[in-house]
Amino acid sequence: MADFAGAFAASHGPLLVREWDAVPQNEKLRLEKAFKELGRRVTAARPDVLIAISPDHWANFFLDNYPAVCIGVGAINEGPPEPWMKGFPQHEIPGHAEFAFHFLNESLKDGFEPSLSHRLKLDHGTCIPLWRMELAKMPAIVPMLVNSIEPPMPSLARCLEWGKLLRKAIESFPSDLRVGVLATGGLSHSIGEKTMGAIHEDFDRETIRLFSSSEKSLIDYLNGELPSRGNGSEEVRNWLVAHGAAGGRGFELVDYLPVPTVIVGCGFASWR
Ligand SMILES: [Fe+2]
Repeated sequence: MADFAGAFAASHGPLLVREWDAVPQNEKLRLEKAFKELGRRVTAARPDVLIAISPDHWANFFLDNYPAVCIGVGAINEGPPEPWMKGFPQHEIPGHAEFAFHFLNESLKDGFEPSLSHRLKLDHGTCIPLWRMELAKMPAIVPMLVNSIEPPMPSLARCLEWGKLLRKAIESFPSDLRVGVLATGGLSHSIGEKTMGAIHEDFDRETIRLFSSSEKSLIDYLNGELPSRGNGSEEVRNWLVAHGAAGGRGFELVDYLPVPTVIVGCGFASWR
């Protein structure tokens, strides 16, 4: 039977790569330290497989066909297609078709209807954290792409339920396997809209606090606030999937810092 190895979350953003040299030294050091500490925790959890929860930033889908949730069931995932991600060390990242199909089938059995893909490109959303965490060994990656980019999006409550379902799927997988969860995205940021560049530190800190509160308090707060906190903040959905998988217990915050140069409120956390 498979074991839940832990859940982890990290922010991403193109400017963490593209504008890295312009990030002030003290913030750069904190970001490096946070990514590496998260990587140390992932390595210590010894996952054979990481379920990587990210939106698709139009690397695989576009407006004419954008699934709410897509599970990557391929034996191979492709590396990031963005030209500015060319330093990412792998062109291909092994998947885990056996677990991915099990997760897919358990989803269908429970009344969830994900889309699936046999070959996904893992864009910067997944690959920036994988890269910057400097893992001792890259686990197999099962991508779970959750739409937090373009309305209509899956509800926050549904994302939490997805996490619980993922945990059930891990615990019912018949082979020995250590399965971890890596959520990426958030916290507050705003891309390609009038408020582009805004970071809402008050929202980020309250969101972080409420992950240790009840599911209802967390979801009610997010439902009320997300419409005015920048479109990128919608990516907190991925953290909700990780939270559900971890049993709804509060996480341990590795670090949080708003970084104006990369226009993201950067959060890093792990659930035990
Ligand atoms: Fe993103």
